[in-house]
Amino acid sequence: MRLQGKVAIITGAAHGMGEAEARLFAAEGAHVIVADRLEAKGEAVAASIRSAGFHAKFQKLDVTDEGEWLGLMDAILAEHGRLDILVNNAGISGSSVGDPEGLDGWHRIIAVNQTSVFLGTSLAAERMAAGGGGSIVNISSIMGFVGSTSGHPAYHASKGAVRIYSKAAAVRYGPAGVRVNTVHPGYMPAMLNSTNGNERADKIAATPLRRLGEVIDVAYGVLFLASDEAAFVTGTELVIDGGWIAQ
Ligand SMILES: NC(=O)c1ccc[n+]([C@@H]2O[C@H](COP(=O)([O-])OP(=O)(O)OC[C@H]3O[C@@H](n4cnc5c(N)ncnc54)[C@H](O)[C@@H]3O)[C@@H](O)[C@H]2O)c1
Repeated sequence: MRLQGKVAIITGAAHGMGEAEARLFAAEGAHVIVADRLEAKGEAVAASIRSAGFHAKFQKLDVTDEGEWLGLMDAILAEHGRLDILVNNAGISGSSVGDPEGLDGWHRIIAVNQTSVFLGTSLAAERMAAGGGGSIVNISSIMGFVGSTSGHPAYHASKGAVRIYSKAAAVRYGPAGVRVNTVHPGYMPAMLNSTNGNERADKIAATPLRRLGEVIDVAYGVLFLASDEAAFVTGTELVIDGGWIAQ
């Protein structure tokens, strides 16, 4: 019970790594808010967590919409009186937009992957500070460190920005007891709506541990940073990539 009684928002928790984090956090005692724009899937994840005997609730959230973020914060404070953890996990791949190399595609990728992290972090940090502190975990990528031929430039740019923004936020909000860290997954199961998730064999061959990541590999790292075990950890990067970035 590493998160006993803590109130945690996980964005993009209707699918993929966010869903795994929601299930793990709830099993560790947290009250999890499954926040996603996909209502049916998000409701189903929250219901399945509850049916396992844990605490979860779905809240519809488009992470690019400041008004929806404010509504989410108000609802959580009204119900729980505080917010302890935010995982900014929601994201889109470059290939999930129509024109990833054009200006519209750039704006969409930056809005979902980067501006959302600014909105969530700044709004949550203010409220966590008022409650004595908290932990924010922002999901970047190995593509936030280096370029590649498999990722679109806008995706790399968005994930690199999440990395350095989180360091600045750690410095800004540290005195108020709010920790901010990043997690950098490597090659994982393909993202929803991604059209370039088929190069599985190449990705495995390029990874020293010779497999793709599994969602639980990342969830355990996020759990550590979210928990009080990481009480003196802020402004840092946790790479979970089977050794890819070490090469
Ligand atoms: N899959 C990978 O290979 C990989 C590798 C490194 C980093 N990442 C990052 O990890 C995070 C999770 O990736 P995943 O593979 O689990 O993705 P996924 O596509 O399986 O799930 C992403 C979730 O985010 C939600 N989402 C997307 N846009 C949203 C919006 N505007 N508002 C609210 N919710 C929204 C989706 O509905 C979905 O439930 C992302 O930030 C991604 O960039 C993924």
